[in-house]
Amino acid sequence: MIKVADMHKWYGSFHVLKGLNLDVKEGERIVICGPSGSGKSTFIRCINRLEEHQRGQIIVDDVELTDDVKQIDTVRKEVGMVFQHFNLFPHLTVLENCCLAPLWVRKVPKREALATAMEYLERVKIPEQADKYPGQLSGGQQQRVAIARALCMKPKIMLFDEPTSALDPEMIKEVLDVMIELAGSGMTMICVTHEMGFAKTVADRVIFMDQGEIVELAPPGEFFSNPKEARTQQFLNQILQH
Ligand SMILES: Nc1ncnc2c1ncn2[C@@H]1O[C@H](COP(=O)(O)OP(=O)(O)O)[C@@H](O)[C@H]1O
Ligand SMILES: [Mg+2]
Repeated sequence: MIKVADMHKWYGSFHVLKGLNLDVKEGERIVICGPSGSGKSTFIRCINRLEEHQRGQIIVDDVELTDDVKQIDTVRKEVGMVFQHFNLFPHLTVLENCCLAPLWVRKVPKREALATAMEYLERVKIPEQADKYPGQLSGGQQQRVAIARALCMKPKIMLFDEPTSALDPEMIKEVLDVMIELAGSGMTMICVTHEMGFAKTVADRVIFMDQGEIVELAPPGEFFSNPKEARTQQFLNQILQH
């Protein structure tokens, strides 16, 4: 479903991603962790071309990401993204947020867009908030709307960039529960997160990134109980200490 081969990216002269390789199969769940600044966000943003890479290849569902705008559009329709700070449109209601892209990008008829939006709002368990504005919701509710909004485009792949790290602790579970349910439905997912309980239950493979490189890549059992690289061990000791 996703193939990344010897992919490099620079911000000006700063070499931020240094030869990443990754193959993700349909239905696979990947968790990416690593210290702040290691390139996790940049990596997943390259997968839907919110950032462009300069060397190597990224192929998403058989479409290679190049300067070709048509190909970028094709890939963006298949890839949903959820950000740390929700990025909902504040002047649109929850329902309008969910219908916007299906109406304007996918050209779905209005009645169908509304029905799909309600279906996904039910799925993330907030149909009763449909007519409110994002500012009237809690952080956990806003993030669930952001997930529903992404799902309304019927993506084949979902990317999550630290979806719970801006939330108050009591709201983390409600968002993780939605992500766990989504994983159970067979969605192909790449999640940047430091929720290691989530990684253990849901991930097929866990990646540890540091300084623009994939340092370690292993199934969670192996990753947590027997990390091979010293940098991974050190990182896990730091985050699992508390
Ligand atoms: N738009 C940008 N321009 C220049 N440098 C950037 C930009 N975005 C991120 N960086 C730098 O690239 C590195 C990786 O950032 P990022 O991908 O956000 O890391 P992470 O998500 O792992 O915290 C950091 O050193 C960051 O400062
Ligand atoms: Mg980040």
